[in-house]
Amino acid sequence: MMNKERITEQSALLQQRYGNQRKPDNIIWNSQIEAILNHRSVRNYLPDELPDGAIETMIAAAQSASVSGNLHQWSVVAVTDKVLKAKLAEITRLSDEAQGNYYIEQAPVLLLWIADLSRNNFISKSEGGKAEIHNYLDSFLMSSIDTALAAQTAAIAAESIGLGIVYLGAMRNQAKEIADAIGLPDYSYVAFGMVVGHPDPNFNSVIRPRPVQEVVLHYNRYDAKRSMKELETYEESFQSFRSEAQMKNKQWSTMVADVADSFSYMGGREQLRCAVEERGFKLK
Ligand SMILES: Cc1cc2nc3c(=O)[nH]c(=O)nc-3n(C[C@H](O)[C@H](O)[C@H](O)COP(=O)(O)O)c2cc1C
Repeated sequence: MMNKERITEQSALLQQRYGNQRKPDNIIWNSQIEAILNHRSVRNYLPDELPDGAIETMIAAAQSASVSGNLHQWSVVAVTDKVLKAKLAEITRLSDEAQGNYYIEQAPVLLLWIADLSRNNFISKSEGGKAEIHNYLDSFLMSSIDTALAAQTAAIAAESIGLGIVYLGAMRNQAKEIADAIGLPDYSYVAFGMVVGHPDPNFNSVIRPRPVQEVVLHYNRYDAKRSMKELETYEESFQSFRSEAQMKNKQWSTMVADVADSFSYMGGREQLRCAVEERGFKLK
């Protein structure tokens, strides 16, 4: 039986996820769905160590995600060494963002999620093959996709045991330096990082609203017109989120346009193609 408190909690989750926009009224609730809808990136951590078994639990979850061809083309480097963590934070810190990446050093663990063809490349060549398929864009993409699926499954596991996470695309900013710092073999690259730790209760991480489902969900045929139209209602939710979080007032569409033309947002990732080619990927 559903108690009243649970229903109130569930509608609060939908309210935070969609703001004042239209919300689905037919969610099939259970505790797993509640936990997933409760996600928020955490950028303030306590220095406390992770509970014993937390990393292994996350990796078991990650390994339970679907995996292309059962090929196991991802790896994780768990960075626990404070000096190395500080070095990685420094490498990926944007020059115009004095405070940026401080959470890497606060939290006890930084996971580096690696799209990794290196093992299978070695095996194929040891078996007398040329591993020609590894030279194609699809292999790069396949390992990157699997890495993301594994990571997100690990993120859900971490959140379910009370930990917080934030992804770090910034770990691609200086792909070569990051790869060198952790001794990555050819045919592998750090696709992104993930900070993991105990959320600092003195900082309230909030749920960020998303656009209404009609923006992203199409049945049978993509409807660009409806998608764009439905986006209009997102601006208000986006702005009230920003004002409640005491962030600078900004329109979402302006942010999209700014990001699409900003090399400072790229932070070095405009060199990524060269960096991954140097790591052995051919991207044919
Ligand atoms: C692949 C990926 C890379 C990300 N990179 C960064 C990053 O470098 N720094 C950061 O602070 N947040 C990063 N994020 C977190 C996003 O900013 C965040 O997920 C988004 O704003 C939505 O907020 P929420 O996760 O709290 O719902 C990244 C998220 C993803 C999925």
